[in-house]
Amino acid sequence: MAVLLEDRINELQQRVEKMKEEKRYFYLKSIEGASGPRVTIDGREMLMFASYNYLGLITHPKIKKAAIDAIEKYGTGAAGVRLLAGTTKIHEKLEATIAEFKGAEDAVTYSSGYVTNLAAISTLCGRGDLVIIDKLDHASIIDGCLLSGATHRSYLHNNMESLERILSNSGRYINKLIIVDAVYSMDGDVSNLPEISRLAKKYNSKVMVDEAHSIGVLGKTGHGIEEHFGLKDAVDIHMGTLSKTIPSIGGYLAGDKDLINFLKHHSRPFIFSASLPPVAAATAIACFEVIESEPERIINLQKNVKQFKDGLNSMGYNTMNSTTSIVPILVGEEEDTLKLCQMVNDEGIFICPILFPAIPKDTNRLRAHVLATHTSEDIDKALDIFERAGGKLGLI
Ligand SMILES: Cc1ncc(COP(=O)(O)O)c(C=O)c1O
Repeated sequence: MAVLLEDRINELQQRVEKMKEEKRYFYLKSIEGASGPRVTIDGREMLMFASYNYLGLITHPKIKKAAIDAIEKYGTGAAGVRLLAGTTKIHEKLEATIAEFKGAEDAVTYSSGYVTNLAAISTLCGRGDLVIIDKLDHASIIDGCLLSGATHRSYLHNNMESLERILSNSGRYINKLIIVDAVYSMDGDVSNLPEISRLAKKYNSKVMVDEAHSIGVLGKTGHGIEEHFGLKDAVDIHMGTLSKTIPSIGGYLAGDKDLINFLKHHSRPFIFSASLPPVAAATAIACFEVIESEPERIINLQKNVKQFKDGLNSMGYNTMNSTTSIVPILVGEEEDTLKLCQMVNDEGIFICPILFPAIPKDTNRLRAHVLATHTSEDIDKALDIFERAGGKLGLI
């Protein structure tokens, strides 16, 4: 039922005010200075467990220098859309770097990961086509489906029988595309790519994988989900962001060169929206180089994830099926989730609650992000805080 806009605005206003009065408003906190394993918020040092800076590249000296040099050379913006006057040498170099990193023929970049998913789905799929998505796929994938006009169906999370049921009834569609997150952003578990790829081949569908949370995280050298499973050619369209492990801004699609050329001439965000600032492109290139040259960061991240997750599990917390740097701490009730969040925030952990409707009902949780740059002491300190808070609330 339609509700007057003013009423919706008032309702939100009252909700926010109430949360602020109860000291349970955990949003829009401003961080003083660069985001690292420790951050300063309202003059107080806190342990950061909410950032996507998985490998700690934000303050890397080589990357900062690459950004400064790019500003000196290219200035601050590209002043054009990519198709017309907004392509520079550094954009081309970034796309070549991404293609090489992903083992693809070519790549195209957009101004955000969100826009990249809209661009891919709305350009490659339309009426008469079928897009099949996992129930927990990112919002930008769902929005891309809506924009495309294609039919879209979702299967139960990582449930291959459910996926096959949809595929086995998909004969009437002209083109089929399965789209999954490599690492699910709320649950931290990994998509079953070997089986998805097998089913896609059986039913003549293409596969697109969103690697927002898997680049730099999955695989021995951080190359992502195919490296993780030891697969080759399981993915037709590699999608990723330049805003998480790669601390810049933007998103990419990598794949067959003709497909990328098609996207460069047909995707509306490439034609009607400004290109990435050259400094963002230079930053991203330097990040890919550091991921290649400093594999110890990935090893450290995986070690930290194990320490944190094992610690939480041994206390009795449920971290769902997470095996990655995203570690959900399942609570259930909204009230308990907010209380836990408040208690650990008071003790100096910066972490955010994830509440229904962003996730299914009764699975309210805190979502922790483990970083390569956390020290073992940082993790022990956080575990100690979680143990005391969970004990007081009777959650563990
Ligand atoms: C799985 C996934 N895809 C896409 C995006 C959008 O990326 P960006 O923030 O670069 O727009 C996100 C952002 O959180 C994400 O988690």
